[in-house]
Amino acid sequence: MAKIRTVYVCQSCGHQEAKWLGRCPACNEWSSLVEEVVGTAKKDVSAPPPATVVRLSAVTGAAEMRRTTGIPELDRVLGGGLVKGALVLVGGDPGIGKSTLLLQAAGKLAGAGARCLYVSAEESVQQIKLRAVRLGIDSPELYLAGETSLEALETARAELQPAVLIVDSIQTVGIASLESAVGSVSQIRAATQHLLDLAKQGGLTVFVVAHVTKEGNIAGPKVMEHMVDTVLYFEGERTGPYRILRAHKNRFGSAQEIGVFEMHEDGLRAVGNPSEIFLSQRAHGPGAAVITALEGSRPILLEVQALTAPALYGAPRRITVGFDSQRVAMLTAVLDRRADVDIAGLDVYVNIAGGVRVAEPAADLGVLLAMASAVRGRAVPADTVVVGEVGLSGEVRASAQLAARVVEAKALGFARLLVPKVDLERWKGPPPELPLFGVATVLEALEELDLGRR
Ligand code: TYD
Ligand code: MG
Repeated sequence: MAKIRTVYVCQSCGHQEAKWLGRCPACNEWSSLVEEVVGTAKKDVSAPPPATVVRLSAVTGAAEMRRTTGIPELDRVLGGGLVKGALVLVGGDPGIGKSTLLLQAAGKLAGAGARCLYVSAEESVQQIKLRAVRLGIDSPELYLAGETSLEALETARAELQPAVLIVDSIQTVGIASLESAVGSVSQIRAATQHLLDLAKQGGLTVFVVAHVTKEGNIAGPKVMEHMVDTVLYFEGERTGPYRILRAHKNRFGSAQEIGVFEMHEDGLRAVGNPSEIFLSQRAHGPGAAVITALEGSRPILLEVQALTAPALYGAPRRITVGFDSQRVAMLTAVLDRRADVDIAGLDVYVNIAGGVRVAEPAADLGVLLAMASAVRGRAVPADTVVVGEVGLSGEVRASAQLAARVVEAKALGFARLLVPKVDLERWKGPPPELPLFGVATVLEALEELDLGRR
């Protein structure tokens, strides 16, 4: 590697200094200077070479080659398998299972003949071996390295020519010739850039693990998100068995896919039918509703739970887990102003069961009905799935891909769906497999489910 030149850049105003300072002399911000790598001095630019321009139709080899990881849930989140030359970031809280997932993937890939190099600076090769034994992984094509310097890795990579490189983690592996500490913002940026070049030039797929960090001097995965091709986050409650792998960005596929896994003693197992799992411990009674969340290409049925309680101190609280609290505040106002449900003065708690996060507007109506059901003390019928976005005038708005949601609801044994009226009017193709009840307003939805004022 060429000698690396660095400067200290103020992260708040962009001012540059040759040496680190505690306070930026330009904007007076404290501790804002961060070491950054600058490119080596430009060569003679008096006669720049002409840019190469090609006709779109003349570009060949565009059909990207996909290699399966042997873990279908992971493949789907990646957009259909591994792409050559891609840099994939796998982020998540410490202990969530990132190393386990990647070691399992490496085991499958190596077993299928793709040479893998697993670089870990967090665990010794003996520790990795122990884990591999527990996971039942044993392949002559899987190589391990306990290395903290990317430069040192270079020769190993050149000799081995692996198809897949796994770096675990970016916070412990860095460029030794860089002055700043491994794990700092500038180290992570430089190391990511280095791995990016490696992936593109070497034609190999690189996985980089990054721990989500709380405030502190260790930088987190956010620093590298814009540089990499694909960003996957591994989420879930560490104490619970379920883990969700979610694509946040993907240059090679949909960024909405999720993969659901369950942690066992012998590693992660894919969960083929997430809806069944998420609904398995359903509570029956007031304050719950079943919604369909469209996660990438497939709908998943989830239970929304709501609880209301008299607000004792000051302004009523809106506390949510797995759903946007602003949106709950909005839906509360709609219930209060458009549907005559006395909820404005109550504390409201909303939870999506199973530790899943829902961002889809089509979940609105289900959340709203769960809250209304909690206030009125009457249950939403257990055989009903609710779909629809809610607007501020209390109107129920259209949702996407209703047909797929109906199929999933039927598969899980539900008897009917409450849907936006517009979707019913726009329904094309063969008649739906379950009866659909169209509602145009929140009031109509409450009446339909017998949650209206008696
Ligand atoms: P790990 O992959 O080390 O997490 P990360 O790399 O994200 O920090 O896995 C962490 C947890 O998973 C650990 O607490 C133990 C548990 N685990 C199992 O329950 N079963 C297994 O087979 C393995 C390998 C780990
Ligand atoms: Mg780990």
